[in-house]
Amino acid sequence: MRSSMACRSPTMALAMLLVSALFFVTSHASLPIPIQAAADDFLRCMSASVPGNLLFPRSSPSFASVLASSVRNPRFLGPAVVRPLCIVTATNASHVQAAVVCGRRHGVRLRVRSGGHDYEGLSFRSARPEEFAVVDLAALRSVRVTVREPAEAWVESGATLGELYHAIGRATDRHAFPGGLCPTVGVGGHLSGGGFGMLLRKYGLASDHVINAVMVDAEGRLLDKQTMGRDVFWAIRGGGGGSFGIVLSWKVRLVAVPPRVTVFTVVKTAQEGAADLLAKWQEVAPALPDDLLVRVVVQGDKARFQALYLGGRDALLPVMGSRFPELGVNPTHCKEMSWIQSVPYIYIGEAATVDDILNRTVARDSSPSKSTSDYVRRAISREVWARIFSDWLARRDAGLMILDPYGGSIAVVAEAATPFSHRAGVLYNVQYMNFWGVGGDGAAHTTWIRDMYAFMEPHVSKNPREAYVNYRDLDIGQNVVGAGDVSSFEAGRVWGEKYYSKANFRRLAMAKGQIDPRDYFRSEQSIPPLVGEQLELTSSRNVPHVDGMNAGWWPLGYGTGSVGSVLSSVLSKLMPSFF
Ligand code: FDA
Repeated sequence: MRSSMACRSPTMALAMLLVSALFFVTSHASLPIPIQAAADDFLRCMSASVPGNLLFPRSSPSFASVLASSVRNPRFLGPAVVRPLCIVTATNASHVQAAVVCGRRHGVRLRVRSGGHDYEGLSFRSARPEEFAVVDLAALRSVRVTVREPAEAWVESGATLGELYHAIGRATDRHAFPGGLCPTVGVGGHLSGGGFGMLLRKYGLASDHVINAVMVDAEGRLLDKQTMGRDVFWAIRGGGGGSFGIVLSWKVRLVAVPPRVTVFTVVKTAQEGAADLLAKWQEVAPALPDDLLVRVVVQGDKARFQALYLGGRDALLPVMGSRFPELGVNPTHCKEMSWIQSVPYIYIGEAATVDDILNRTVARDSSPSKSTSDYVRRAISREVWARIFSDWLARRDAGLMILDPYGGSIAVVAEAATPFSHRAGVLYNVQYMNFWGVGGDGAAHTTWIRDMYAFMEPHVSKNPREAYVNYRDLDIGQNVVGAGDVSSFEAGRVWGEKYYSKANFRRLAMAKGQIDPRDYFRSEQSIPPLVGEQLELTSSRNVPHVDGMNAGWWPLGYGTGSVGSVLSSVLSKLMPSFF
């Protein structure tokens, strides 16, 4: 960790008190609509607080390449896309704090980017015309693993899942982390929205294993689990990125895996009875032993069944033989390896090596795409599966479906325990994806996604029709900014209750009301603040007092020559690791 949360001497407390008073006087003006002068002032403020080589205004020759560096979906790189006025490639906490303070002061909002994989690009573009800046955390990516029990890791938000998994694999063959499959996904966005992969039935979500976090809030304060309070700590573990603050790092619990695991892939075509197999899979997969996950990628006329079993082939085969004999899994389908070897094997392919998961580069020829999601709670009939093959997947511009079975550990956590509400009773998650060639408008492919989503309505969860926030889709609803220049809670319910359930969305809005009541961290799908209802929830002593002094917060210098900068230089002597 670059920043210590432990420096709390009386001198420090006094200094922080003084600075906090000044900070609140100078920074609490409400955000004006940014105009050119405000944008210029913001850039001047940033130049005074952050080294020039970490600042990329639009005029910089490197702006376009820095912007594109982690963008997975080139759909959001076109000329019509609303781009940031500058990108800050932070290398320590003070740069992030500076961005927040300058942004608040000059009326420029921030978007935060860790891995840049947001399906709607909300970490680096705005769907509406607005001036904003991007704080890019890709350089904050250290991973520190402790394998002595309890096995844990501190991981910075800009690390990729591949970097986290690789560090764990280097340290031990007895532990893993239950995150998503794609190694280039960023830890920051992934943990913010939940995160699931091949270990989800055994261990649940990635965010279920977060035990601490360090975050910069909308006042520039540096908070940890204790100082952000119970409700905000609840909210940042699954309540979606870009709403509560900028999480710099996460402490996660590692999970136990055996030294050998088994993977298999079996592909069946529609002609070979894929519709029957999918109908059966829906009943079988969510009820298999927790050590076994069998997911399906359905595309064209094929269903590709991919599995990970936490054990050897000899133990796996009898389970598959008794629970799902129709799939016909035999020893030739199975391959034993370590958990870390299974990561590239499953996502990249048989020839991939463990070091390949360290590659952060997103292929420049990656295709534009559109995605959305559903949850299935009642098995879909064989006849509907047959129609999906014949009427939908056989079309010229068709996409694909990825089915991830739930049950097991993901289902035993209470719906209210975390913001992620898709737990008991869910059979599986469906992800719909469609891709098109670079330069194409994607109209037919996007229409396929929307029509397919409409077709599926009778067959998926209802009231609300659930969706997964990490498979973000702006089609399911967007914020409306209302009274007091804050996002409307009522308008947010349209999309928010789908991602989190009615009760959890309300609790998220109340947590937002505590930590960011002025709605500084705002996007098309950020949690709206529900202020005035906070008191109902603030009975716990741990709940933070947003507008008061909090031992965990740490303001920083403003522009050169300001009172703030004098204080920050005093503070830098007291606490050099922050500056
Ligand atoms: P990005 O940086 O774009 O951020 C996503 C959102 O979180 C934005 O709103 C952003 O502002 C916010 N945010 C980012 N960093 C933050 C921080 N430090 N503090 C606060 N907010 C922050 N999911 C899954 O569960 N299982 C899987 O297997 C996969 N596989 C997969 C493959 C591919 C190719 C893609 C493109 C995506 C996935 N995903 C996935 C979805 C993925 O989990 C989701 O898109 C994450 O939000 C991406 O996180 P990034 O940090 O990369 O995105």
